[in-house]
Amino acid sequence: MSTPSSVEIFDTTLRDGEQTPGVALSMDDKVRIAQLLDELGVDIIEAGFPRTSQGEQEAIRKISSLGLKAKVCGLARCSRQDIDSAVDNGVDYVHTFIATSEGHMRHKLKMTREEVKAKAVDAVEYARSRGVTVEFSCEDGTRTELDFLKEMHMAVQEAGAHKINLPDTVGTMSPAAMEYLVSEVMQVTKVPLSIHCHDDFGMATANSLSAVRKGARQVHVCMNGLGERAGNAALEEVVMGLLAFLDVRTNVDTRKLGTTSKTVARLTSIPVPENKAIVGNNAFAHESGIHVHGVLRDPSTYEAFSPELVGMQRNIVMGKHTGAHSVKEKLSEYDITLPEHQLEDVVEKVKRLAESGKEVDDAELVALASHIAGQVEKRRRHVELKEFTVFTGMNITPTSTVVVDVDGKLARSSNVGIGPVDAALNAIRSAVSENITLVEYRLNAITGGSDALCEVTVKLRMNGDQKVMSVGKGIGTDIVLTSVDAAMEAIDRLLSKHKI
Ligand code: KIV
Ligand code: ZN
Repeated sequence: MSTPSSVEIFDTTLRDGEQTPGVALSMDDKVRIAQLLDELGVDIIEAGFPRTSQGEQEAIRKISSLGLKAKVCGLARCSRQDIDSAVDNGVDYVHTFIATSEGHMRHKLKMTREEVKAKAVDAVEYARSRGVTVEFSCEDGTRTELDFLKEMHMAVQEAGAHKINLPDTVGTMSPAAMEYLVSEVMQVTKVPLSIHCHDDFGMATANSLSAVRKGARQVHVCMNGLGERAGNAALEEVVMGLLAFLDVRTNVDTRKLGTTSKTVARLTSIPVPENKAIVGNNAFAHESGIHVHGVLRDPSTYEAFSPELVGMQRNIVMGKHTGAHSVKEKLSEYDITLPEHQLEDVVEKVKRLAESGKEVDDAELVALASHIAGQVEKRRRHVELKEFTVFTGMNITPTSTVVVDVDGKLARSSNVGIGPVDAALNAIRSAVSENITLVEYRLNAITGGSDALCEVTVKLRMNGDQKVMSVGKGIGTDIVLTSVDAAMEAIDRLLSKHKI
């Protein structure tokens, strides 16, 4: 059987996706997700399993009444009550299923093959009599004995099923096995065949594509790969994979994948892994100098396709592999241009921070760059800190000891304070000159988080001179060291105006 030129996307985020451990969507959340999936362009929305609860029924009724372009489907076991529960709540499509593998029939259903087949046929006939589109699934189909699977497909299509879905319920297929199985099943399946893959071996997308390659005309998917256990085939991966590898089209507007993914992650409270294909934060992020250089010259050097195609953005990330190209490009987004030597200083600082485990975000990079750009002369001319320690803890007086080189002479001093920063600043002042007065000390966190960069501003005066005030700024992750850095800068400036 040949590969179709287009397939239908059957989205089950609101059913199999809601079976993701820890996910429980409110009615409003379900409605919002259904609307988004409809705008995205999926063909069928499996809105839930109505027989499971009152709340599920209300949500399905509401979604069915929205007048969406997509067909709204309800899941039903092969039972007339389940089918009524779906149809009576307004769906125009019923997905009915029964397990057909030996293990499931023996241990779970405790039914014979004949009983299972009779129940399936009755359910399909009954659902057809209720005037809806009927899709039938042999649950655990890929582990069902092949001849029986074919027998089931023939029986339910005879009974009037519009489509037959083949679930890889436990995700145990490989792409090659899927190609074989679908080719076999296609020999007897005359209605459109659908595929439903779980990701227990990380093969759900590949297996879905294999099924389509051999003739499946519909794929069951969940946004962000949500679903039971390791999840279902991810909508975004299947849609992009079909396009890229098989030239098979869907009605999905790929440019909406990014925002749909983010909203689904927010509403389900299941974050998208950073490195998730297509929609993860890192999917179009570049850190290493070599990659950034390449991508800036021609994105195709390190991007499989353009982020805009899936509604994502390229992101140049600052880290320990960062090079001058990344920093320059990132700063240019903020209209900041630095001369070469200052750019190198920023790169050095970013690398050092990254090596100590601190990621530098945009706000922090801009602050670093502004700080470095503001330092007219980086090397201090009058004072240099040679040694520094501070002791602090519970029930001890914070004490600091410093050794400072003041115009070529070493001065050592210890002092105490009400905290480690106060002790450090006092020790520095006593080593350099008691005539220095602290006018102002200001501490700002540049961004949130316990590892955020902080910015310290220190303002100093020489006693008796009200006219001249000297300012020093420091940026870093350690408040004490950053404060010392800012104080040393302010002292250096003060000493260039005053003799001690
Ligand atoms: O994985 C599965 O077998 C299912 C069925 C309900 C089709 O989700
Ligand atoms: Zn499933």
